[in-house]
Amino acid sequence: MTAGVIGSEFRHERLTVFSDRETGATGAIAVDSTALGPAMGGLRLFAYASLDELIVDALRLARAMSFKNAAAGLELGGGKAVLLDDGRWGDLREERMRAVGRQIEALAGEYITAEDVGTSPGDMQAIAAETAYVAGRPADLGGRGDPSPYTARTVFAAIAAAARIELRRTDLEGLRVGVQGVGNVGGRLVALLTEAGAEVFVADLDEVRAEAVAAAYGATALPLDGFLWGEFDVLAPCALGGAIGLDDVDRIGARIIAGAANNPLADRDVGVALARRGVLYVPDFIANSGGIIHVGSEALGLDAAVTEVRLEASIDRLERILTEARDTGRLPLELAEQHAETVLREGRGNGASRRSPQLS
Ligand code: NAI
Repeated sequence: MTAGVIGSEFRHERLTVFSDRETGATGAIAVDSTALGPAMGGLRLFAYASLDELIVDALRLARAMSFKNAAAGLELGGGKAVLLDDGRWGDLREERMRAVGRQIEALAGEYITAEDVGTSPGDMQAIAAETAYVAGRPADLGGRGDPSPYTARTVFAAIAAAARIELRRTDLEGLRVGVQGVGNVGGRLVALLTEAGAEVFVADLDEVRAEAVAAAYGATALPLDGFLWGEFDVLAPCALGGAIGLDDVDRIGARIIAGAANNPLADRDVGVALARRGVLYVPDFIANSGGIIHVGSEALGLDAAVTEVRLEASIDRLERILTEARDTGRLPLELAEQHAETVLREGRGNGASRRSPQLS
């Protein structure tokens, strides 16, 4: 590890790096903050080029989770676990996931995991054999299952709110929306949008999937090339992060960008440049909060009615942030971060403070 890699911006409460002797499962668990409650964030399996890269990703993602959980009004801190995909997970998968479960158990509730890029509800089930500090297990095995429908719901609400506030639209009839990436979240988002009367365009790396989603919901599949710059009212990035770079800014045709993808902008400068061009960017972590509210509620043992209240509250908050941004000329990202920072500083989620989650 080079000395400069972990600067003060990456100081966390705890960083655990592990390499399991028996199974070879190698990864890191970063706990950024437990100020609001146990640190929660998904488990990512990715082919990192080096251990440095893996650790820095864990630290960055854990910090992002502190903001996301605070912004979502959850009594949860921020953490993240990442695993090295060394191409040998195939047969060893269950044993390795159990090894990860033992690492999580050793943290005694400081960190709670869930699925993320590269992991599945089935992996959470394997982890659950070793620790109770896991959410997102399959619904038929006592968990709450896939968070994607909830993520799609808050992204849809973000698009509707942005269209109302920015475009003065009272409904979505005929609104042109481009959805980039039609997987678990994007596909469901397309269904919600077409049901509301929007004119939806889709593109995916997997062209067969794009065609199938378009046919199922009456949307139009377009080539991926140049899709970001399409003449849409709203662009909804629902693939992977970093899709929109500085070079794209001048060519973006949409007035609004709101989607599920984490970190859809290559960096902060892109957000500032978009604002200068009059493009409203709805911050990822407030648009896609439905997913973490769903799994976070499972971890906190909240029932369906309370979870619903949390979801609605997050949508209200999102609308308030967008309205304040319009009225003050400030960036929604700045306002959302300010809100999350205040919550973190004051150590309050929805009124509760640190306590052990009730896990089943
Ligand atoms: P997914 O893996 O089910 O779908 C992603 C889709 O994007 C796939 O169809 C894939 O072929 C496509 N894709 C990948 N790279 C692409 C590219 N360069 N251009 C176009 N399409 C591309 O993932 P999921 O669960 O739908 O998540 C989508 C995004 O939302 C991810 O960034 C994820 O981190 C984020 N997110 C998901 C949540 C959830 O509840 N599933 C919660 C919060 C964020």
